[in-house]
Amino acid sequence: MPIEERVLEKISPDAKHRHFVARVVSDLIGRTNDDIEAKGLDLEVRLVGSVAKDTYLRNPDVDLFVMFPETTPREDLEKVGLAIGRSVLGGEERYAEHPYIHGSHSGLEVDLVPCYKIESPKGLKSAVDRTPFHTDFIRNHISEKQKGEIRLLKQFTKGIGVYGAEAKVQGFSGYLVELLILKYGDFRKVLSEASNWRYGETLHLSVPCRSRFDSPFIFYDPIDPKRNVGSAVSLDSFSLFIYGCREYLKKEDLRFFFPRKGKEWDLRAIKREIQSRDTRILIVEFKRPEIIDDDLYPQVRKTLDGLKSLLDIHDFAIVDKAFQVDKSIRFVFELQTDVLSKCRRHQGPPVWLDNSREFLSKWKGKMTRRPFIDGGRWTVIAEREYTKASDLVRSQMESVGLGRDFRRDGRYEIIEHETALSTTYKGSLKMLLDKRKPWER
Ligand code: UTP
Ligand code: MN
Ligand code: MN
Repeated sequence: MPIEERVLEKISPDAKHRHFVARVVSDLIGRTNDDIEAKGLDLEVRLVGSVAKDTYLRNPDVDLFVMFPETTPREDLEKVGLAIGRSVLGGEERYAEHPYIHGSHSGLEVDLVPCYKIESPKGLKSAVDRTPFHTDFIRNHISEKQKGEIRLLKQFTKGIGVYGAEAKVQGFSGYLVELLILKYGDFRKVLSEASNWRYGETLHLSVPCRSRFDSPFIFYDPIDPKRNVGSAVSLDSFSLFIYGCREYLKKEDLRFFFPRKGKEWDLRAIKREIQSRDTRILIVEFKRPEIIDDDLYPQVRKTLDGLKSLLDIHDFAIVDKAFQVDKSIRFVFELQTDVLSKCRRHQGPPVWLDNSREFLSKWKGKMTRRPFIDGGRWTVIAEREYTKASDLVRSQMESVGLGRDFRRDGRYEIIEHETALSTTYKGSLKMLLDKRKPWER
């Protein structure tokens, strides 16, 4: 049987599964309506997302929206919306851009989201108000056959690690996957077209739009042309998708859809690799802030960037870097060297410029040698402030652009090369060294 048929068989809900999902949904809608009634309110509950569109994979999440009249003050929408969610689901409050309750029911995950019931997408009042329109749009435009194609593309993007618009992944949302199938027709066609995408690829379904977006990948939202459905797609997810499509078309393989875990790296192999490169490892470890992933990942990336710039400007050349989000957050740097010479060259202004006097007086007394003229400029060989990478990070942590919650906690640990090459940090080193793509494992 061709690969894609085999995949479809594995991922499509069968009759039994559909029945189960339908039961959970009607139970949830019932409970939500009961709670709304008990609160003396009159609000519409709508099923949206992939379950409503019949584009879900097995064990989907159920996306339920509670629609408030446009006249409801924002504060009330949040307060009442969350109260309904809590009494139906228990669950936990999530708040990145918009507040909602995430919980589970009969083993399925559930998002219960309050939104405004608006007449048209032009009257948008909150970030999630488009969702019911998206649901209708897809329902009205996809064919039965395309539901399977959507499922294949979802599983493919999942398998190669670019499915989901959340901050952790920075990839393709379910709706974007659906639009791609609508645009190109089927799974294979999406892959062959995407193989030729370039930075700034701009797609649309009907009328092209004039709004400009500055992102690697642009897909104008057919229900709101001011919106880029691809805005979450990072440059790296975009690139990995292009490469994944090319590789799959060259040689299809189940592993693109269902990546293997890959064999564990033992510490000996890791050490051997690092020794053969003769590089130095530096790890900075923080406690994991207790915040949701959508808040955490941007802060992790910001912190990684901050540490990188600090090392950069102090001449510690970075060979590679990685982070690991686990019980703690670890930032891993591979450096050309973690100890630098005591002195470095420092270039000043050309001799004929006025500020050359300032330069000379600034360095008076601080220089280990006389300033000399080289290529017309004053130059000194001056002492470095920090010769050890670990000292630098320890002393300058205050000045690093850390993520808010990393700064707030303030505690961290610095792990130097010798300590880093141990079982405790094996997982972090694997993050750094293992460059196999998900389908290559
Ligand atoms: P999902 O992420 O659940 O996507 O959001 P999906 O299309 O159902 O795909 P899968 O199969 O579950 O992966 C469903 C819709 O709900 C909105 C999203 O915009 C999306 O259109 N949504 C969901 C929010 O806006 N905010 C949320 O917190 C959750
Ligand atoms: Mn969903
Ligand atoms: Mn959801």
